[in-house]
Amino acid sequence: MIKGRRIVLGITGSIAAYKAIEVMRELQKRGALVKVALTPSAKEFVSPLTLGVLSGSKVYGEVIPRSSKEIEHTELSSWGELLLIAPATANTIAKIACGIADTPVCELALCMGKGIIAPAMNYRMYENPITQENLKKLSSLGWEVVEPAVGELACGEYGKGKLAPVEDIVDSATYWFYPKLLKGKKVVITAGPTREYIDPVRFISNPSSGKMGFALAKVAAAMGGEVFLITGKSPLRTPYKVKRVDVETVEEMREAVLREVENADLFVSAAAVGDYRPKEFSKEKIKKEKGELLLPLVKTPDILKEVAQKKGKELVVVGFAAETEKIKDNALKKLKEKGLDLIVANDVKKGIFGSSETEVLIVGKDFEKEVKGSKEEAAYAILKEAAKLLS
Ligand SMILES: Cc1cc2nc3c(=O)[nH]c(=O)nc-3n(C[C@H](O)[C@H](O)[C@H](O)COP(=O)(O)O)c2cc1C
Repeated sequence: MIKGRRIVLGITGSIAAYKAIEVMRELQKRGALVKVALTPSAKEFVSPLTLGVLSGSKVYGEVIPRSSKEIEHTELSSWGELLLIAPATANTIAKIACGIADTPVCELALCMGKGIIAPAMNYRMYENPITQENLKKLSSLGWEVVEPAVGELACGEYGKGKLAPVEDIVDSATYWFYPKLLKGKKVVITAGPTREYIDPVRFISNPSSGKMGFALAKVAAAMGGEVFLITGKSPLRTPYKVKRVDVETVEEMREAVLREVENADLFVSAAAVGDYRPKEFSKEKIKKEKGELLLPLVKTPDILKEVAQKKGKELVVVGFAAETEKIKDNALKKLKEKGLDLIVANDVKKGIFGSSETEVLIVGKDFEKEVKGSKEEAAYAILKEAAKLLS
């Protein structure tokens, strides 16, 4: 969604300005085209030369261009599809809220009307009711505010005011371009592998990385949903605005899912849930003995089936089918048997575990659609179909 998008990065005079370079690099890595505008104060913190070289473009840093006949701010505001101000000082936020246009960043804000603001400042400046009022006003006018983090601040004090993590800022820019088809909807997604313990140091699991579930959570949040991601062990970063619940066993995942789907609109089960667990859990580490160790297994609860059977008409349920043969037939069987609204089938023989790419077949009651591409692209295709089924 962000690939090829034209983003104007506005930088203001905060000690966190050096992080704007990372924001720009990450945006570029995700395929965005970036041009930079600076306030005069920002030039004290980061050099226009560095930004010009890294963006491959002229940096807009003066209100009245000395050497050109172009009216830069109107040109740049027409070029840009999104204005992202990171970091945003208390001063610039206040000026934008009042419609003052005395720096390149403020001029662009007035021309473009809305965008994303990532504040960074001392916690007392941030908590000051004037700053809070200004942010509230900008939010009501369509600006997205990426809240600062709590932590140790450059001045040595501790509190809320640290620039949000670069990945969150870049996620927010990615989200900007998605249609808000899930606005006002609660979406519960499971991801990753489950673990069933044999003894305190051994467990049965599977190679699921969680990438598909995390991509779904990210895209669902980008589409405006309130997203709860219930995940087995995964090293993946929680996407911006996603609420994460960490679990290990099938039973823990079941409990979390049943609690969260109560008032949900959409449930997507992308976790690789183990079908069996050891019949007995040994409290002590099992000693290595000669000969075979036989491990009786019992079935784990079928979370997806339980949710689908209990659900009312208002909950849309989407399942995944990881198959090794007769992909479509097995998916259709699972769709009917479990009473799902949609099923997403994939061929695990194609090495999709852990990969960022995937190939899926989305099967509904009266349609099917093949999608090949990144897991994010597949997630968008799946969620678009699910959104059509929501009341
Ligand atoms: C070392 C230093 C660090 C600063 N860091 C911040 C900051 O993180 N956030 C902020 O709102 N102001 C900060 N300021 C104050 C701003 O630079 C000042 O308000 C300036 O007028 C902002 O101008 P601008 O909004 O046009 O960039 C800092 C000032 C100095 C000298």
